[in-house]
Amino acid sequence: MKDIHAVFNGRFDSLGNIKISPLSRAYTFSDSVYEVIPFYNSNIIAFEKHILRLNKSCDSLSFCADIEEISKEITELIDKSNLNDGYVYYQISRGVDPIRSHMYEEDISIETFGYVLPHSFKSKNLKVMLCKDLRWQRCDIKSTSLLGNVMTMNSAKEKGCDEVIMHKNNIITEGGASNVFFSDDDCVFTPKLSKNILPGITRELLIKEITAKGIKVKEGSYNADDLLSAKSIWLTSSTKGLAQVVEIVNQKTNLEIDHKLFKECNNIFTSNFLS
Ligand code: PDD
Repeated sequence: MKDIHAVFNGRFDSLGNIKISPLSRAYTFSDSVYEVIPFYNSNIIAFEKHILRLNKSCDSLSFCADIEEISKEITELIDKSNLNDGYVYYQISRGVDPIRSHMYEEDISIETFGYVLPHSFKSKNLKVMLCKDLRWQRCDIKSTSLLGNVMTMNSAKEKGCDEVIMHKNNIITEGGASNVFFSDDDCVFTPKLSKNILPGITRELLIKEITAKGIKVKEGSYNADDLLSAKSIWLTSSTKGLAQVVEIVNQKTNLEIDHKLFKECNNIFTSNFLS
C-alpha cells in the first residue's frame, strides 16, 4: 500500500499514509460518489464522460465539488504513477460531521480521495449467477452505497462465480459491477437506461461504435428467458472492457462460446480503445 500513489483532500501521498476521520460521512452513511477511470497506453479512456458522470452524481446529492480541480488531480495521479495501463479510483464524500447525524450541516466541506493502480485490460471469460436485484431505487447514481451488490456478489463467489446478473420484477437490470449485453445471431440487446441501472460509460462507447459499424443494437426490457436463450452474453465495465459469460450457474443456456457477434463487438471495442 505504501507505493500506491494517492491523493486526499488535494494532498498527494502514498495510500498507506492517508487517514480519515471515523465521522466522515463516507464511513457512517456511504454519503459519497465515485468513479473508476481507466487509462491504456497512458491515454485516459473517455475522460470527459467520466468527469461529466462524476459531476452529475455530485449534483444528484447536492455536493459542491470543484470538478476542474478534481480533473487535474486525476491526471496528476496518473502522471505521478508512471503507469501505462491502469485505473484511478476517485471518491467524493459530503465531508466530516461534527457528530453523526442523518441531517447534515449546510457548511460541511466535501472530502475527496483517489488512488491509481496498474491494471491489465485482457478480456476474461466469466462464470456468473442470476440473482434478485436487492438494491435501492437510484442505481443511476454512482454512489458508494453498494451493499446490495456486495451481498449478491459474495454469494456468487461462494458458488465459484466471478460476477452476477441481477433482475428486478423479472426484468434484467445489470451486473454487480458491470452492464449486461447479449445477442442472438444478428442483433445485440442490452437493458435500456433507467433509475435501476448505472449509465455505464463502456456501455455507451460500445453501443456508439458497434452501431457505427452497422451492428443492430436494441435497448429494451428483457427477462431471464430472453437472456437464457441468447447465443452470447457479455458484461462491460471500465475495468473489464467486454467480458464474455461462458456459464450461468444452475441454468441451462444456449451459449456459443466466442460467438461471432461477441467477437466482432470485442474487436471493435479493442481496436478503438485498447490498442
Ligand atoms: N463499476 N454497473 C455497475 C453497478 C458498476 O459498478 C459499473 C462499473 C458499471 C459499468 O460502468 P462503466 O462502464 O462506466 O465502468 C455498471 C466499476 C468499474 C467499479 O465499481 O469498480
